[in-house]
Amino acid sequence: MHHFEYRGGVLHAEDVSLETIAADVGTPFYCYSEATIRRHIRVFQAAFKGCDTLIAYSVKANPNISVIKVLASEGAGADVVSGGELKRARAAGIPASKIVFSGVGKTREEMAFALSEGIHQFNVESEPELDALNEVAVSKGAKAPIAFRVNPDVKAGGHEKISTGKKEDKFGVAWDRARDLYARARALPGIEVKGVDVHIGSQIAELAPFEAAFNRVADLVAALRADGCTIERVDLGGGLGISYGETGVEPPHPDEYAGLIKRIAAPLGVQLIFEPGRMIVGNAGVLVSRVIYDKEGSARRFLIIDAAMNDLIRPALYDAHHTVIPVDEAEADASKVAYDVVGPVCESSDRFGRDRALPALAPGKLIALLTAGAYGASQASQYNTRPLIPEVLVNGARYAVIRRRPTFEEMTALEEKPDWL
Ligand code: LLP
Repeated sequence: MHHFEYRGGVLHAEDVSLETIAADVGTPFYCYSEATIRRHIRVFQAAFKGCDTLIAYSVKANPNISVIKVLASEGAGADVVSGGELKRARAAGIPASKIVFSGVGKTREEMAFALSEGIHQFNVESEPELDALNEVAVSKGAKAPIAFRVNPDVKAGGHEKISTGKKEDKFGVAWDRARDLYARARALPGIEVKGVDVHIGSQIAELAPFEAAFNRVADLVAALRADGCTIERVDLGGGLGISYGETGVEPPHPDEYAGLIKRIAAPLGVQLIFEPGRMIVGNAGVLVSRVIYDKEGSARRFLIIDAAMNDLIRPALYDAHHTVIPVDEAEADASKVAYDVVGPVCESSDRFGRDRALPALAPGKLIALLTAGAYGASQASQYNTRPLIPEVLVNGARYAVIRRRPTFEEMTALEEKPDWL
């Protein structure tokens, strides 16, 4: 469910025409619908109504502070993986008591900062990390609240590169070492054991892998309790997939996901923590781009647009599918041609789609790449010295640029010439 639709023949975000925004801010740009973001977090919250939950939005999916602010106003917490993301979450008004810190490589500086902020939980991913966190906490006279992220050895996720719960993956502590690690952690003066954490992957489109992982977690909680360990929280991570339109993949509704969890994890009598990212913001964003050329190659016909892989790397990195539609609906009824939709970057992988059936689109026409709100802007780069593109947030009939396009001078401001040049 999202708020992008044709009105009067033109694609709108809520009540604002994307042509209006394009004329104002230039192309390409990301456009987010605030109503869609709010709707998604509310659907997730409603699915767990009556349960003790902390819904910690996974900031990496879309870290714009205004986006986080929308979620903060809905009562969400945050899942962060760096000191920078922690600062963003705090700047957006998320209380430290609703923030969990994940990631395999937290530095001592990041740990010290998170401890001084007073975050809810560190999700610890290895024994050396445990020792470092203990030392940092002791040096500050603090106790770090932790869960171990356990690796359940379950295969999940829409692509090999976004699967994290197999034993070959770098994530989490080994399943068969978990009880020993909990015993060790309990003896450390700077550590306070709070719970168990698991996250198995992203864009997971069926319930079975969640079920396998969560059953293992429930067994572990029982075993830890039998060992005398107090477990008051279980963090089930993120990963619930979304529909990317034409692919035909229809992931379970949050209500079905919640049904599974209520059956397996709710009986544990713990606070349930979730780290959803994609399902909150994915369908709340589109990437709007302008056609530069319609190029007839010797074997294929290319629609060359002004957005590129540096703006949205998901197709190049994971063969991800983003539906492409014209902003002008009149084009939708025209006879179709098969385009390879590509950007201007000098790489063959700078391709958004192959053989896309679209009306012939003249230079200057606008198109939208759908479902671009998650891992779009957040994974962008300035490759080919292309500026990061603006992000626009729509709320009803108004909109605001929530990140503007940098100038060339700003893009190069951090570079310094050595004195021998
Ligand atoms: N928690 C942890 C510990 C994570 O590593 C992630 C995502 C999430 C939560 C949120 O997962 P979500 O609900 O968004 O699936 N760049 C890739 C996705 C990478 C996901 C990384 N971790 C993509 O564009 O598909």
